[in-house]
Amino acid sequence: MNDLITNNSLDKKHLLIIYHSKNGNTGKMADAVLRGARHPEIEIEVKMQEAKQTGLDELLWADGLILGTPENFGYMSGALKDFFDRTFYPAEGKVEGLPYCIFISAGNDGSGALASIRRICKGFPFKEVQQPVIAQGKLTQDKIADCQDLGTYMAAGLEGHIF
Ligand SMILES: Cc1cc2nc3c(=O)[nH]c(=O)nc-3n(C[C@H](O)[C@H](O)[C@H](O)COP(=O)(O)O)c2cc1C
Repeated sequence: MNDLITNNSLDKKHLLIIYHSKNGNTGKMADAVLRGARHPEIEIEVKMQEAKQTGLDELLWADGLILGTPENFGYMSGALKDFFDRTFYPAEGKVEGLPYCIFISAGNDGSGALASIRRICKGFPFKEVQQPVIAQGKLTQDKIADCQDLGTYMAAGLEGHIF
């Protein structure tokens, strides 16, 4: 019986949410993504970590990624960029095709942060599997709901092996 339980948990897909937030907006989005990903009817393992505290081990653990950042100076946050810098070469050849999606909090349209993440993710290469959620200006309940849906869709897609 114990073996069965262990095997079942080994079979579960792993979803990793990596984010950075300086003033809390992206953090609120991340909390909603996590809520959605931990849908009671979806049986996967979900972890959420700040980008600064995330490294190669966590990346290699993941079967799917959700990446969150504010737009800073027309780019992703330094913390998320630093995560990519630290993991790119050590992960080379081990993460190809990893499904991922993005959420962004920005004062304007977030396009600089989006393009910068996509460019780097193409290099790993990861595979973008959901439309990004971009909150422009004040964070609304609609955007929070979109983040929750993003988490649920990603979790369901991993559980259902559709990516
Ligand atoms: C140093 C700095 C640079 C920023 N640069 C941009 C920018 O280039 N484009 C933009 O749309 N918003 C910019 N913003 C606004 C942030 O993206 C926005 O306030 C976001 O919600 C912050 O997320 P956080 O609360 O998770 O830190 C900048 C904010 C800071 C503090």
